[in-house]
This record gives sequence, structure tokens and C-alpha cells, in this order.
Amino acid sequence: MMRRKLVVGNWKMHGSRAANATLLQGLLQSRPFGCDVAVCPPFPYLADVASTLAATDLRWGAQDCSVHTQGAYTGEVAPAMLAELGCRYVIVGHSERRTLHGESDQLVADKAKAALACGVTPIVCVGETRAQREAGQTEAVVKRQLSCAIHTLAHCASEMVVAYEPMWAIGTGLTASPEQAQAVHALLRQQLRAATPRADGMKILYGGSVKPDNAAALFAQADIDGSLVGGAALKAVDFVAICRAAG
Ligand code: PGA
Repeated sequence: MMRRKLVVGNWKMHGSRAANATLLQGLLQSRPFGCDVAVCPPFPYLADVASTLAATDLRWGAQDCSVHTQGAYTGEVAPAMLAELGCRYVIVGHSERRTLHGESDQLVADKAKAALACGVTPIVCVGETRAQREAGQTEAVVKRQLSCAIHTLAHCASEMVVAYEPMWAIGTGLTASPEQAQAVHALLRQQLRAATPRADGMKILYGGSVKPDNAAALFAQADIDGSLVGGAALKAVDFVAICRAAG
């Protein structure tokens, strides 16, 4: 099945109003892309980015959200607040949040459910550590992570985007080879097929040191439907080159 590719820039905790404006102008000038493109800036910039991208075909998302609807949760951001601004995606369960903030599979799945309840598409990240890969546990780890999201989302599972991000490839310059990535994507697709008849229409993104020079080979794989891009999403020329490779 031909799935339209999706390239998402995860800006992490980078940017400034001036830098964001330059980056977005660079992206806007390079359209149209032959794939869906989104950027995920830090929370304080979302309103700015929303207005810059309004009435364009570029989409935007957040990097995290709360599981709660509203209330006494200092520092948290509710999915409904994101939805009110026109937010299309929210990244949940990025490995940096799982590791640095102790987020569990269940918390990640609950965030995905809370986002979907507000009409925001969750991008659910899964991925193994280097030690887990070396111990032959890759399949078990990613299956466990995805399984929690599938069960929690139940009949809405087909609405999520999945991102496979091997932790040893994030920010390290070590990309999974296209074959290594495809092997895991195929497993994830199989798992989705067992859960929903819509699995073939779902997007599974690859993330981890995606750059202009390795993007095309990754995108050529049967089950790689785009990418979640960190470092290379901060420079318009690089991000544009990756989007073009996907188109
Ligand atoms: P990277 O980050 O492209 O800088 O490796 C990807 C990610 O963490 O989403």
C-alpha cells in the first residue's frame, strides 16, 4: 500500500523567536513538498508557530502533553489547550522523556489516549537501548512498548502514528541501517495488523540521526513511512532535503 510519508521535526529544547522565524521562512519558501511535514517546537513558541503556519500546508505539534484534562498540575499542558491552538500532533514517550523523566509505558499510552480524545494525533515513540539490542531484546522491548499503547487506545489504535527510535541512534550520528530499521518496522506493522484492520494505512516513522544523506535509503524501505528528525530539523536546508527525499 502507498502511504503518504510524514516528516516531523522535533526541535527538542532548541530555538528562539528569531531562529524559529528564520527556520520557518526557509521551510515555507521551499514548498510544496510531496509529503506531509510538521514541526514540533517547545511549548512557549507554539502560538507563534501556529500563527506563522496558519493557512499553509505545514503542520505543527507539541513534544509532550499531560494525561490530565485540567487541574492542579503545575507545569503541565493539557491536550485540550494544544487542540485549541490548532495543534495536529503530539510526540509522546520520546526516549528522552522515558529516560530523564521516568515515563512508563502506561503513562505514555495514557498521554496518547488523552491527546486523541482532543483530536490531536499522538506520535508514540518506541525504541531499544544499545544494551538491549546487544542482548537480543529489541523485539521484546518495542513490542512491549507498542502493546501498551495498542491496548490502551483500543478501537482508536489505528489513529496513532508510531515512531521507532532506537536510543543508540538518537543524537549520536549512528543511524540504524535501512535494513535494521526496516526489520523492526516490519515487526511493528505485524503487531499493528493483529490489532486493527487499518494497520496498512498507519504511519510508522523512523527516528535517530536521520540526515539528508541517509534519508532516501531509509524512505525506500517498505515499512518506513517518514521520519522524526532531531538535530537535522534545526537547519532549514537539511530539513528541506529530508522532506524532499520523502516526497
Ligand atoms: P536526532 O533525534 O535526529 O537528533 O538523532 C531524533 C529524535 O530524538 O527524535
